Amino acid sequence: MSYNAKQAEQAHLLQVYAQADFEPVSASGITITCRDGRQLLDFYGGHAVASLGYAHPDAVAALSRQAEQLFFQSNAVPLEARAQVGDKLAAFSGMDRVFLCNSGAEANENALRIALRATGRTKVLALEHGFHGRTAAAGAVTWKADKWYGFPQKPFDVGFVPRDDADAAVAQIDASVAAVILEPVQGIAGAYALDAGFVAAVAAACKQHGVLLIADEVQSGVGRCGAPFAIHWYGVQPDILTTAKALGGGFPVGAVMMTEAVAAVLSKGDLGTTFGGAPLACALINTVLDVIERDQLIDNVKTLSARIWSECMTGPVTAISGSGFLLGLRCAGGAAPVRSKLLEAGILTGSSNDPDVMRLLPPLTLGHEHVDALVAALKNIQ
Ligand SMILES: Cc1ncc(COP(=O)(O)O)c(C=O)c1O
Repeated sequence: MSYNAKQAEQAHLLQVYAQADFEPVSASGITITCRDGRQLLDFYGGHAVASLGYAHPDAVAALSRQAEQLFFQSNAVPLEARAQVGDKLAAFSGMDRVFLCNSGAEANENALRIALRATGRTKVLALEHGFHGRTAAAGAVTWKADKWYGFPQKPFDVGFVPRDDADAAVAQIDASVAAVILEPVQGIAGAYALDAGFVAAVAAACKQHGVLLIADEVQSGVGRCGAPFAIHWYGVQPDILTTAKALGGGFPVGAVMMTEAVAAVLSKGDLGTTFGGAPLACALINTVLDVIERDQLIDNVKTLSARIWSECMTGPVTAISGSGFLLGLRCAGGAAPVRSKLLEAGILTGSSNDPDVMRLLPPLTLGHEHVDALVAALKNIQ
């Protein structure tokens, strides 16, 4: 019998994931090759991570060059690659200061800690349907996390605001609140782009009451929504901006960016990490940001996203939501059967917390031919 990784994992790995039935063994560009020889076009990007696709020559070269030159050093020493990340991320995001870490949850954990510390307040507001990660603070502000949260209590007071209800948000934002955390385009909820008037009202109320606005762009950021960060579409200046996923293109990284005013409350010893900002991570972040700029990938996202919006309302798709390459396709009869049929046709998509919505989170390097294939496959589904 041929090797079966799904079975082999069951021997000793904790069984906390519902895994797919295919095993990727290699990938190049947008295409994943599976152990059984099947090839899949990846419209999911490994949870929005594979920003440059797979085996991108610049990423492979940067990683091997950095591995040969200096495999690891911590934040106890200065590094040229880290200084470059600071400069590039600040320019890309429009934020003043950057703290590098290892994941989205860790970025949000630190963002919340910073906001509570900066304001001296004890309450955080988040949005219904939002997801911010599985650590103690990030999980505390995640909607309906109770079933997996696991900690006996939350580390601070939390209130949830109905999304796009500006009156409800403004009524809850007052001088007792340290921060409002929101995803400008909610990812796991099903690619739900917040209403611009709602985001503007939240930002104005935050400003009025000295509340910090945290934009969680772990999923929506790094060019995915057709701008460096989705919050740029809203014309709103967050106090803190978090990101991860696409930033390392597959290497685990996270970043917390903030204004100089917020950064001013922090001093030496206040935050820390062993691996954040390490040489390999920085080599990848620099490469991802360089390739996005050099190859005009944000323009590519805008062009191909417009095609998906206009051509994918076909077959079982009844509505499209989201922005750029963070899209939700609402499917008649539910997303699961449509995703299965697409998989049979060689197209990998993602699920969401909305059973009717499948998510598209493809690499920013997607091409017209891949959109052609998706449209054709959708048309074939009855
Ligand atoms: C918006 C958002 N925030 C935070 C996280 C947590 O990121 P990580 O899984 O890297 O900890 C995710 C992960 O899906 C996310 O989508």
